[in-house]
Amino acid sequence: MTSTFSRDRLDFTRASMPEDFQFGVAASSYQIEGSKFGGCGRSHWDDFAATPGNTARGEDGSLACDHYHRWAEDLDLVRDAGLDCYRFSISWARVLPEGRGQANQEGIDFYERLVDGMLERGVKPFATLYHWDLPSPLADLGGWRNRDIASWFADYTEVIMRRIGDRVHATAPINEPWCVAWLSHFMGHHAPGLRDIRATARAMHHVLLAHGRATQAMRALGMKNLGLVTNFEYAEPADESAEAKASAHLYDGIYNRWFLDGVFKKSYPQEVLAGLGPHLPENYEQDFDIIAEPVDWVGINYYTRKLIAPDGTDQFPALKEVEGPLPKTLMDWEIYPEGLDFFMRRVHEDYAQGLPIYITENGMASPDVVKDGAVPDPDRIQFLNGHLAKVHKAVEDGLPIKGYFIWSLLDNYEWALGYEKRFGLVHVDFDTLSRRPKASWHALKEALKAE
Ligand code: FCB
Repeated sequence: MTSTFSRDRLDFTRASMPEDFQFGVAASSYQIEGSKFGGCGRSHWDDFAATPGNTARGEDGSLACDHYHRWAEDLDLVRDAGLDCYRFSISWARVLPEGRGQANQEGIDFYERLVDGMLERGVKPFATLYHWDLPSPLADLGGWRNRDIASWFADYTEVIMRRIGDRVHATAPINEPWCVAWLSHFMGHHAPGLRDIRATARAMHHVLLAHGRATQAMRALGMKNLGLVTNFEYAEPADESAEAKASAHLYDGIYNRWFLDGVFKKSYPQEVLAGLGPHLPENYEQDFDIIAEPVDWVGINYYTRKLIAPDGTDQFPALKEVEGPLPKTLMDWEIYPEGLDFFMRRVHEDYAQGLPIYITENGMASPDVVKDGAVPDPDRIQFLNGHLAKVHKAVEDGLPIKGYFIWSLLDNYEWALGYEKRFGLVHVDFDTLSRRPKASWHALKEALKAE
């Protein structure tokens, strides 16, 4: 990334953005709450992490940041930074330990306290109903492979939203369908750790059916401001060959177009259907009316780009990632703000066409340490500046970009990579669990303070 962006302060302040522009932070239940507390049921992440070799150092989210007990302190950090919104997720297993049937009152009470806690602090609740912690008993029944998951998910949605739906500001049913389906059932990197094309195809479809059913369920409850949050990676051919171009196009289809095509166009990309088609459920097209239930906004999660090339085989998708030359974060992800620019424009022009768009996740991991009582993270500040510059330009160009959420409030459980990848604006000492705002948190507070 060019060095024109500051490393000690944010180049864009509240005053640089339109008055209704929202600044927020994002987090998720399993990554921060502590799944062993409060009568939470087991999720497939507890099981995945208990299986040797699946997660770094065998780490899991059983304690995580103990947000379950420290939520008030954490919400104070959101408020004190001057943020407008907090994007949090609800653990299905905390609300319904068996996934269906008997609710866990303690769990529902927790989310009610959390939402009320945000409102008391003048922070708008942006809820996500599924950020990957599927109750184990539903995983036993096939999880995302089983078509019934759409009904289970709609039922769960109703149970929790009957209690808090009147107070959340905005809701997206599912975080990042690509991760739920492809990363977890084809690549095997996330729970349930499968590498199975039939399971993948079914998950790719059922995740959208569940999205549609939950959206309908919330609308029936009278809820408003219902969105769709998908993640994107800018796919570039690794070289100039026609084969590399075709591979990058296929990668883009699987990752970036499948879910939006389903919701906004009632179809799936042809080049992806060539591989997944034979494994999709029979008559899947009949579900598009539910899948295409209108949404009120679209959320873009964006982190990086990928260079793509053919892998030399003829087995779908027959592509591989090639290491790129750009500066990388601790995740080994190239820093490429231009990709965010591309997706804001594509989502607006090809899909959302005027609906409000939020950047629902953007941020970076760095090896932050406490030095003399402070936590300097100049790379993160520069990263945020580089991406906010693209958001600012898009707003100037008249795109309806309505908010920007940083991933994440706290250092947390980065899934299979454990606790080492620190994404937080606030440092967490994982021995004592004490929180310490990093330089980026202070920079944000300065940029957001009322003029
Ligand atoms: C996103 C996830 C989030 C976190 C960040 C780094 O894909 O939504 O939980 O892991 O990546």
